[in-house]
Amino acid sequence: MNAMPILCVRNACRHYRSGETVVRALDGVSFDIHPGEVVGILGPSGSGKSTLLLIAGLLEPPTTGEIYIRDRLVSQPDADLDGLRDFRRTNIGFIFQKANLIPFLSAVENVALALEIDDVPARAARDYASQLLGNVDLAHRVDNLPARLSGGEQQRVAVARALANDPALILADEPTAALDSARGRQVISLFRQIADTRQAGVAVVTHDPRVQDLFDRTIELRDGRIVAENATRPGESAAADTNRNKT
Ligand SMILES: Nc1ncnc2c1ncn2[C@@H]1O[C@H](COP(=O)(O)OP(=O)(O)OP(=O)(O)O)[C@@H](O)[C@H]1O
Ligand SMILES: [Mg+2]
Repeated sequence: MNAMPILCVRNACRHYRSGETVVRALDGVSFDIHPGEVVGILGPSGSGKSTLLLIAGLLEPPTTGEIYIRDRLVSQPDADLDGLRDFRRTNIGFIFQKANLIPFLSAVENVALALEIDDVPARAARDYASQLLGNVDLAHRVDNLPARLSGGEQQRVAVARALANDPALILADEPTAALDSARGRQVISLFRQIADTRQAGVAVVTHDPRVQDLFDRTIELRDGRIVAENATRPGESAAADTNRNKT
């Protein structure tokens, strides 16, 4: 496995002040994701999973700690993350806990938009967007507005959209929550395939026990800290351990 991690999180803390008290949503988390790895992030509600993903995706700055993406320090405490917008757009595909589709654009337009922002001509963007939707079994729904899609279909459009720019790092927050067992496995298998063929790194927050065998390893959070790390695909994650304690 490639030595340089795609994502490197070091001692990340995220504290939210609420009145007199401070919520330690993340409390000193360190982990890496290497090229070709699909990592599951587990833990009870409120344990910090979404916060971890937002910080790794440069959508929120850590209160303290560092985030490196491909060895570039991309996060300073209180940094202006707007300045990283282009970097984020070209390197990270983010799937939110809710699909967040643009309601007045059809499925294919939602996906194509991600490409057009990157200067792909409209026709080519639409063709490629249709192909991506085909990969999540939505070829028959490309012209539907989000309101005319089921929750699971919307979630799959969001997956296709996140993959449009061929990101090196894919961060997905409960992408299978609205899906039946077969579709859920299909989405994680798609991540698996992208990790294998393009050496992307993938982190997936999930409560779904039906997809956990598709992860290389899992990280379990509790109260903003990592309480367990497990290899789920024996023999494939040894290299991931070598960098874990790098500071
Ligand atoms: N913007 C915020 N302001 C204040 N507290 C917050 C904020 N965002 C999250 N928290 C708190 O931080 C903790 C972790 O929240 P987070 O959303 O990361 O949990 P989670 O593991 O994703 O939970 P779930 O499984 O329910 O989605 C929770 O106690 C939450 O209430
Ligand atoms: Mg969450």
